[in-house]
Amino acid sequence: MKRLCGIVVPMRNPILFGVIFALFCSSALLAQDNEKVPYVPSPIEVVDRMLEFADVKKADVVFDIGSGDGRMVIQAAKKYGARGVGIELDSRLVEIARAEAKKDGVDQLVEFRQGDALKADISDATVVTLYMLPSFNKQLRPILEKQLKPGARVVVHDYPIEGWNPVKWEEMPLMDKRPEVMPHNHILYLYIWKPEQK
Ligand SMILES: C[S@@+](CC[C@H](N)C(=O)[O-])C[C@H]1O[C@@H](n2cnc3c(N)ncnc32)[C@H](O)[C@@H]1O
Repeated sequence: MKRLCGIVVPMRNPILFGVIFALFCSSALLAQDNEKVPYVPSPIEVVDRMLEFADVKKADVVFDIGSGDGRMVIQAAKKYGARGVGIELDSRLVEIARAEAKKDGVDQLVEFRQGDALKADISDATVVTLYMLPSFNKQLRPILEKQLKPGARVVVHDYPIEGWNPVKWEEMPLMDKRPEVMPHNHILYLYIWKPEQK
């Protein structure tokens, strides 16, 4: 007998051991894949740089996946006149984002949808912005690959999309001063979606 995380495993029966080990591994992966992405807003300097990095223009439609208080699409509308859609699970944040957009006079340009971004239609996006965790990005990747049109830009904050090659990346020389976040410099990655990169 052997112990695997507190479970007694029968070592003399290799088939049973294999089955238990496979179940153990898949449940660990599942836990990782379902990791909840918390609300941690991007500092406004990072928001501005992400929009510059993606070269956002008036004709763009910017989708922020997990839009928090709406700052990304609100800023894109205010600075560039771009249209935007924020998708956010937390209805309280959706209400805050709608109120902010109204206060800033861009509520005609932006829209906030409450729901799971992993089930959303993002096919209208010409620019996607993302500040989510690696496990979320892993689940989002096939959705981006299925729905985005060739040439769509995807700019991500801190956590790259595994398996995609960024066309450029940069580390912002900005130490984080937010009390809820470990001090760190911010890393941005820009991808341009091409079906051949799949
Ligand atoms: C790290 S914050 C980023 C907020 C904003 N994009 C920014 O950069 O300031 C991640 C946000 O994603 C939201 N979120 C987490 N899982 C989600 C999901 N499956 N669909 C939509 N939003 C989600 C969280 O509620 C949170 O507001």
